[in-house]
Amino acid sequence: MGYLSATYSLLRFQTSMLTQVMQDAINAQINNELYSSYGYLSMSAWCQHEQFTGAAHWMRIQSEEERTHALKLQDFLLARYAKVILKPIAQPEVEFSSVVEVFEKALAQEQKVTEQIDKLYELAFQEKAFAALVELEWFITEQVEEEKTAREVVHKFQMVKNDPASLLDLDRELSQRVAEPAETK
Ligand code: FEO
Repeated sequence: MGYLSATYSLLRFQTSMLTQVMQDAINAQINNELYSSYGYLSMSAWCQHEQFTGAAHWMRIQSEEERTHALKLQDFLLARYAKVILKPIAQPEVEFSSVVEVFEKALAQEQKVTEQIDKLYELAFQEKAFAALVELEWFITEQVEEEKTAREVVHKFQMVKNDPASLLDLDRELSQRVAEPAETK
């Protein structure tokens, strides 16, 4: 048997270090993160259409960050020699009643993701998936930050209410958001 075919046979019989249940759960979370990214992209489009260009910019950056979260999990699965199974992404909401509602929904979305990550962490614990536990710790810390940031914006919108000058100021503030370097997203 040649070297290449011997290597191939060896690889064929290798299995992932992750249990199937853990692989399925991480694949599901990749879909959740992509849905989140899709949702923020839809929010960004709505804000832009309503001429809240700063809020649209903020949401576009958030959408990109969620995509990097999905990629981080994808890379983790591949590093553990597990299969990545991408599933269809559900349609996000497309209509909102106000810009404050957009950010309230963003906060609710982050709270939901926090629950998903917590459940995944609990599962990794049960499955004794120690490398996954370490990987997921990054996500747990990230969720604390993401919820905090979204909550602060919601409070600001609730404070300014419908005052046009204050809304313009807040929109200008949101336009200042800078994308984080890829490794810290
Ligand atoms: Fe990746 Fe904001 O959850």
